[in-house]
Amino acid sequence: MIKLPKPEVLISESRIRRRVAALGRKISSDYAGKDLTVIFISSGAVVFAADLIRNIKLPMHIDCIRASSYASGMKSSGRVKLTSGFKVDIRGRHVLLVDDILDSGRTLGRIIRFLKKYRPADIRTCVLLDKAARREIPLETDYAGFAIPDVFVYGYGLDYREYCRNLPYVAYLKD
Ligand code: IMP
Ligand code: MG
Repeated sequence: MIKLPKPEVLISESRIRRRVAALGRKISSDYAGKDLTVIFISSGAVVFAADLIRNIKLPMHIDCIRASSYASGMKSSGRVKLTSGFKVDIRGRHVLLVDDILDSGRTLGRIIRFLKKYRPADIRTCVLLDKAARREIPLETDYAGFAIPDVFVYGYGLDYREYCRNLPYVAYLKD
């Protein structure tokens, strides 16, 4: 069995719940009357997306894309690999791309370029966490849950060596 660190809470379950509800309200009003498709990036965004979509009170399509950049555990490889396509037609639809964390910006940047080929009406992004200090690609997110400092975080979908995605809060690694 792997020995996991004792989780240090960075963002509690109740803070996440309140913030996700507020994001859902804002998105619901911004997209009212529009054909919305929520595409989440797997695996990290699965928990956030599940909570977020239930706070968006609009008709929507849902799909996902699998992306990986953290090749070996905790260091980004710099390259982003997309390992699955998606199945719903986004042509002319308003796409909201949901991810767990905006770090260097490579993942979202790469996926936005990929999705544009399918001619959506527009693409916006929503991330739970924004680690702005690490940005390498000029990319601003349209909706963000929390701005966080440059620490390694895990839980609420984010992994620590592929574990801990099921923690109900965001924890950080103390060095
Ligand atoms: P980016 O492409 O550098 O913006 O990285 C985005 C992806 O890297 C996210 O979707 C996460 O899966 C992963 N990632 C970035 N920072 C962290 C972290 O602190 N903990 C866990 N995963 C992270
Ligand atoms: Mg991810």
